[in-house]
Amino acid sequence: MASSRKVRIGHEGKTEEVAVQVPESEPAIWDADARLQIVGRATPRLDGVAKVTGQARYTYDITLPGMLYGMILRSPHPHARILSIDASRAARLPGVKAVVTFEAPDFFKALEETDESGKPVESGEKKGEAPNMRSVRFAGEEVAAVAATTSEIAEDALELIDVKYETLPHVVDLEEARRPDAAKVFPSGNLPPPAAGEKGNVEEGFRQADAVVEGTYTTPVALHNALETHGAVARWEGGKLTVWASTQGVFGFRDELRRFFKIPAENVRVISEYLGGGFGAKFGAGVMGVVPAILAKKARAPVKLMLDRHEENLATGNRPSSVQWIKIGAKRDGTLTAIHLRSYGTAGIAGGAGVSGPVRMIYACPNVKTEEQDVMTNAGFAMPFRAPGFPQGSFALESALDEVADRLGLDPLEVREKNYREQPAKALRVEYDLAAKEIGWGRRRSPAGAAAAGSLRRGLGMGTAVWGMYGGPPADAMVRVHSDGKVECVCGTQDIGSGTRTAMAVVVAEVLGLKPEQIKVVLGDTATGMYSPASGGSVTLTSILPAVRSAAEGARQKLLKVVAPAMGARPEDLDLKQGRIAARDGRRSMTFAQAASRLKSAIISAQASRTENYPGRGGESWGAQFAEVEVDTATGQVRIVKIAAAHDAGRTINRLTSESQVNGGVIMGLSYALLEQRIMDSNTGHVLNANLENYRIAGTMEIPDIVPILVEAYDPANNVGVKGLGEPPVVPTAAAIANAVSNAIGVRVRDLPITPDRILALLGKVREA
Ligand code: MOS
Repeated sequence: MASSRKVRIGHEGKTEEVAVQVPESEPAIWDADARLQIVGRATPRLDGVAKVTGQARYTYDITLPGMLYGMILRSPHPHARILSIDASRAARLPGVKAVVTFEAPDFFKALEETDESGKPVESGEKKGEAPNMRSVRFAGEEVAAVAATTSEIAEDALELIDVKYETLPHVVDLEEARRPDAAKVFPSGNLPPPAAGEKGNVEEGFRQADAVVEGTYTTPVALHNALETHGAVARWEGGKLTVWASTQGVFGFRDELRRFFKIPAENVRVISEYLGGGFGAKFGAGVMGVVPAILAKKARAPVKLMLDRHEENLATGNRPSSVQWIKIGAKRDGTLTAIHLRSYGTAGIAGGAGVSGPVRMIYACPNVKTEEQDVMTNAGFAMPFRAPGFPQGSFALESALDEVADRLGLDPLEVREKNYREQPAKALRVEYDLAAKEIGWGRRRSPAGAAAAGSLRRGLGMGTAVWGMYGGPPADAMVRVHSDGKVECVCGTQDIGSGTRTAMAVVVAEVLGLKPEQIKVVLGDTATGMYSPASGGSVTLTSILPAVRSAAEGARQKLLKVVAPAMGARPEDLDLKQGRIAARDGRRSMTFAQAASRLKSAIISAQASRTENYPGRGGESWGAQFAEVEVDTATGQVRIVKIAAAHDAGRTINRLTSESQVNGGVIMGLSYALLEQRIMDSNTGHVLNANLENYRIAGTMEIPDIVPILVEAYDPANNVGVKGLGEPPVVPTAAAIANAVSNAIGVRVRDLPITPDRILALLGKVREA
């Protein structure tokens, strides 16, 4: 049954009351009026010490008795048919305990059928191929695997596997792949059906415009490079499989194993106690996830298989490239009349190169047309990558908006404000104000920037972030109170590294009047039976915390009922605060531990499930980032001086880890803006920089002064009022930097990454490399 309740929405100091329909079972909603003790404060990570002292057990740290080491043989060819694989010599090598070869065309079929979150889908593409032969479609694709007593033996064994290939024509270059006579990545060709959308009428919109700008922007393929590579440890006991996996989603991983091995879900357990990041590349088990289990089954011993950085950067995912032509029309005052985006890009052998999110979501514009084309190439498949499509799309859109501002003689911020898209909590306006103030936006000069010293020029730029509210049911949690006063919070979810463990403890501590460090969190395990979605799409906290809170509220009720008689009060007249249970009239109280001891040998256990999002509430997470850069016009070097990043995630749960999310997003975004690009060799079809030497990511030297500014925005779609923050901070960073660089040098930057040679080319000092 649903009931109508009044909640207060808005942002700090500016709120209004609205009515929401919520299930009867929901506790009092944490809206703008909620006065909370622990939620929203800066709580250090519960597992911080374990992590920095090396006690935290990551998948890589799992070592089991009799464990073998797995290794994968990968195709040296970007496109080939496997004619035969002879692994007999490898199998005879002393120490080798299992060899598997993947020449059968349907070997990984069970995986291809399971597309939960953007995994490569090849279904239907294999028609027209010779039966009994599997094709490999990128250099680095899996061909065979071995398990041996040491990784050295495993490596030697790979050398002894004799694979006969029939090489096929390949194409890795985006432009080449679009030509009608290009080598075909799939029998059906390289250009799957495009995606298109239109709102209003852009032709009409352009007719109404006083200024029209258009330009083409490009972005490179980028690699996730989570600190921890992909990998798993698999162990069979009879028909039961246990896998310790570096995964963003233990339940999705389990389901792929279950389907692959055709065994019941209860016979598969997936554990991820600690995870060194994922950023979207670790959804599902995938080929990489099932191989250790295949080897372990065959060898009848546990197998550990962790990828090295080279493999990681060949075959586990990437951010697709883009070429975006964008045309924008605006009235004299900056009001947008039309946006037309036409893009193409390559996600390798997968789909997912779309970039239209920002164009469709950020600004109010009545006429918007988008046309997007995936281009297949013989390269590693893309996987979702922190706000898939958004950093790319934001770069083109925000750059074009700055061009509009320049053309009309307007302030770029004014143009954004003019096209502000209304949303109930109105957090974005506050974010614009706070971040602009922090960067000193008033100092911004028209191109070409401000002279700093000698050849140095300074510039300012900005961009807007948006991300949808994608969390929701199903998600389950349990809170247990033991008679010794111990409190456990159980949810199967994984902590991708963002601080999920601590956030769960914060919510339970708030409800039970305890400190977060008093809560023992159990997560990262399908055996908990407490379902959680994968940690992607910025949905983890929005999905699980409302269930965690409801479970904690349930435990609270049960505990109060137990102690009420002794307190001579009704349960509803008792309160839990600062480790004590007290009657509201203040006459009697006892400690939490004393209360728990009344359970004797019983255990309180309360389970709850995430309810549906409250209709009409929630809205997006927003953000505004402002960058100051310094460009050396003699060398082309860009130095980022400062980035002010104002964001909201509904109600902040833990200020410390939320700021950390913003810092991390900004760092990833600036790395993408200045340094990162996967380089392919067209002739050989190989990745030339599948490493961390030539594939550069930002290090301490590139990291500027970053000022995270968290804005509390209340528009609760769940009882906690939290929204996602994992993805938004990476959305506008490259755009803000590109705009700042353009402002500094007086020439529009149209290509990422913004390398010194490109700057010099823009300044006419060298020819475009
Ligand atoms: Mo993400 S790309 O939703 O991990």
